[in-house]
Amino acid sequence: MEITQLANGFAVEIGGVNLAETLNDAAFDAIKALWMENRVVVFRHQTLNDDGLVAFAARFGPLFVHAQSSLLSSRRKEVMELSNLEDVERPVTHELDWHTDQSYTAQPVFGTILYGLVTPDEGGETHFADLAGAYVSLPEELRTRIEDATAVYSAEPRPKVREKPLNAEERSRIPDCVHPIVRTHPYLNRKSIYLSPLHIRTIGNLPEPDSLSLLGELIEHAAQPAHLYRHRWSVGDVVIWDNTSVMHRRTSFPSHERRHLKRTGFYLPDELAIPV
Ligand SMILES: [Fe+2]
Repeated sequence: MEITQLANGFAVEIGGVNLAETLNDAAFDAIKALWMENRVVVFRHQTLNDDGLVAFAARFGPLFVHAQSSLLSSRRKEVMELSNLEDVERPVTHELDWHTDQSYTAQPVFGTILYGLVTPDEGGETHFADLAGAYVSLPEELRTRIEDATAVYSAEPRPKVREKPLNAEERSRIPDCVHPIVRTHPYLNRKSIYLSPLHIRTIGNLPEPDSLSLLGELIEHAAQPAHLYRHRWSVGDVVIWDNTSVMHRRTSFPSHERRHLKRTGFYLPDELAIPV
């Protein structure tokens, strides 16, 4: 295994691993430890079918199934197609701005895995902001404002957040929920800001405009270059990130570019699944 640091104190590339082969327990445990420590892990030049992708994800934890069931493939509900290709069934194109996955649910997804099949020459990057590093570098004034605060999360906190609005059944199944703004990692003695700007409605007792203004300050702090990793996609890339400790966004890309990624992920075990 060759390990290359990709950004300031987080995000590593792991070389010398073929994810299509079953990894022995020692190799898998080493990868999981590196991933948790570094929040984002990148593998290059991989070739995986859906079964291989899902089998790899399942070793990390219970498989992730998206809460918005109308987006799921009829073939394999653990795999979502992020795509603008015409022949892809139920492609997902939304989720542009900073967020952490499924943070609007009481027990959000732990890790997300993306696998690049068709990648644009220009744009369509995935950017990661290191929320654990951003917690450490928080200015004191900002830290005292958020240390004990919670935020109200919603799948649709404001109009037009989702390209495909929730249907009535989904809306009743996914009520608003509350999470702490400072979260401790489920396995490591590490705090981070827990932040999903796309899904936060309000922070603490602040009215919505003041919540959005505080949110803006937190985004500006967390997404500064010192805490940023920009992933430019190549075919065969597999990227795994820890939603407890990074937030991510996709950059836009020209309409003539083609982009097709597969996504899967995994939950925490029930006893660790609620953010604290
Ligand atoms: Fe996402």
